[in-house]
Amino acid sequence: MSTPNVLNSETKYGHFPYAQVNQSQLIVMSSYGQKEYQRNVEMERSAGLALFQLMNAARDRGLWLIPISGFRTVAYQANLFNRQVQRQGSEIAAARISAPPGYSEHHTGLAIDLGDGFAAGEGIPDITERFGQTRAYEWLQKNAITYGFELSYPPNNAQGVMYEPWHWRYVGSEYARQVFAQAHNTPKG
Ligand code: DAL
Ligand code: ZN
Repeated sequence: MSTPNVLNSETKYGHFPYAQVNQSQLIVMSSYGQKEYQRNVEMERSAGLALFQLMNAARDRGLWLIPISGFRTVAYQANLFNRQVQRQGSEIAAARISAPPGYSEHHTGLAIDLGDGFAAGEGIPDITERFGQTRAYEWLQKNAITYGFELSYPPNNAQGVMYEPWHWRYVGSEYARQVFAQAHNTPKG
């Protein structure tokens, strides 16, 4: 891909602004959810191909990684954020959990939320800190970077976002590194 549309402007509650990737660049990774929750998980092509390699390598070690949420439109993120504002009582509290619309790494198609299929079978819910205690996470910590993925929100990160062991971003191409240059210049915490 050519030069990304990197937005250079102020953060909002610690989140950097991100442009929505052109949807013609997306590939489908999987589907997730059932009934009305059913949706396709999509990623930017290079990031998606790298994620397939990562998932295959994990499978060959007896692990089962499930893509839960990849590319999100700004409109979809607005729904998630508004729901979180209602739950938490303020935008600033919501932003520790969910990025405001226009500020999510998921808009780029380069970020992915991962689950552990075996942990799910044992009743461990997706998208919780308990993912950080799974075998899948232990493997990711050591091996994700080989496939170009890094954890966006480690504990006590400087952006003030809650620890998200499930949320990984792709930095394995020049394009992706440009997209996340601003976030990279922020200390990890
Ligand atoms: N949960 C992360 C911060 C997001 O909404 O993009
Ligand atoms: Zn995420």
